[in-house]
Amino acid sequence: MKEFALLRQNPDFIYFDSAATCQVPDAVLQAYTAYYQQHHANVHRASHQLGRAATTALEQARTALADFIGANAENVTLQASTTAALNGLAQQLPIDWQAGDEILLSAAEHHANILPWQRLAQLHDLKLRYIPIDRQTGELGAWQHLLNARTRVVSVTAASNVTGAIFDIQPLLQAAREQGAITIVDAAQIAAHSDINIASWHCDALIFSAHKVYGLNGCAVTYLAPQLWSVMAPFQVGGGIVQQVTETTATWIDSIHKFEAGSPNTGAAVAAAAGVNWLQQQQPHARLTQLRALLVQHLHAREWLSVLPSGTAHTPTVAFYSDNFQAYDIAAWLDQHNIAVRAGHHCAQVLLQHWQLPAVVRVSLGAYNTADQINRFIETLDAGWALFGSD
Ligand SMILES: Cc1ncc(COP(=O)(O)O)c(C=O)c1O
Repeated sequence: MKEFALLRQNPDFIYFDSAATCQVPDAVLQAYTAYYQQHHANVHRASHQLGRAATTALEQARTALADFIGANAENVTLQASTTAALNGLAQQLPIDWQAGDEILLSAAEHHANILPWQRLAQLHDLKLRYIPIDRQTGELGAWQHLLNARTRVVSVTAASNVTGAIFDIQPLLQAAREQGAITIVDAAQIAAHSDINIASWHCDALIFSAHKVYGLNGCAVTYLAPQLWSVMAPFQVGGGIVQQVTETTATWIDSIHKFEAGSPNTGAAVAAAAGVNWLQQQQPHARLTQLRALLVQHLHAREWLSVLPSGTAHTPTVAFYSDNFQAYDIAAWLDQHNIAVRAGHHCAQVLLQHWQLPAVVRVSLGAYNTADQINRFIETLDAGWALFGSD
């Protein structure tokens, strides 16, 4: 807590919305400021000393971020956000789409991993298929019958941003790859909570946003397998990615940098590397697992609340609803008591439709949360129930 200015200055404030974005530790802001105060210039262009220092800062950050997922820097491009990377992939995958080709998603996808495919499907008359999420267990449902010779892409989240369930996607990715589909992992929710070793993931692309891993907005780590990036056109075109430009044609550089047209956000990349470094030093996983268990135990003990199932492995994100209160009213009550949670569909309307839920309350924990905060949260819920619920 002491390393977070916002939380230091507001000791009574409880931030339970880290699945949306994490608060930023001082070390990350210092790294960001130091970059701008000491090394800032445009990268990969200038031959002056400062330009070289900025390029070094960017490439060192790329290497640290690649290390974080067990990848080589040559296979990691830094995009503006997970949303931007997924849009870029959907538009540029090297696939000669035929009407009736299929894209396989799960019902738990964030809209960022649905809408780019919907748009593509409308353009090429493709079919989107959704792997169900088991309403009883919260686990990924049966997918075997949904994977077939027409499946060209499998793009799935590693963890639900609503329930916190970590899905067993590796067998799916392996099977998909074996039959020639391109496999993409949305790691936005898992990156802060589980070690990722890209070699064991059977994926052609994997993405997460740094702002959910104690970094800043403006940087998403995007792993692209060599066999994918080498044949894929740039997501955007512009300065810094060309070998040669004539009046009518252009050829691209032969490196992962071809996905970074224009001036990159080096400050955000430096901050992202500082964020994962901070996380690796803190190792909050075991403590967050305990806090989550405490939270779930308290919620389950209240008959007027229903906790969404989250499988056998989970991030410290928990969702619940009440038949007695609107989710938005619960969130507003908590907000009045200085506790920030989220209510709504959480950009996962397909999941809520499948499960026939209108809106749910989501509590998502971060490294700065404590058992005392969970107890105060529960006391506040109970006070609301005592005031409005028990008539
Ligand atoms: C699972 C998942 N995918 C994608 C995104 C989009 O991330 P960003 O807003 O950083 O682009 C989010 C954000 O909440 C998410 O939870």
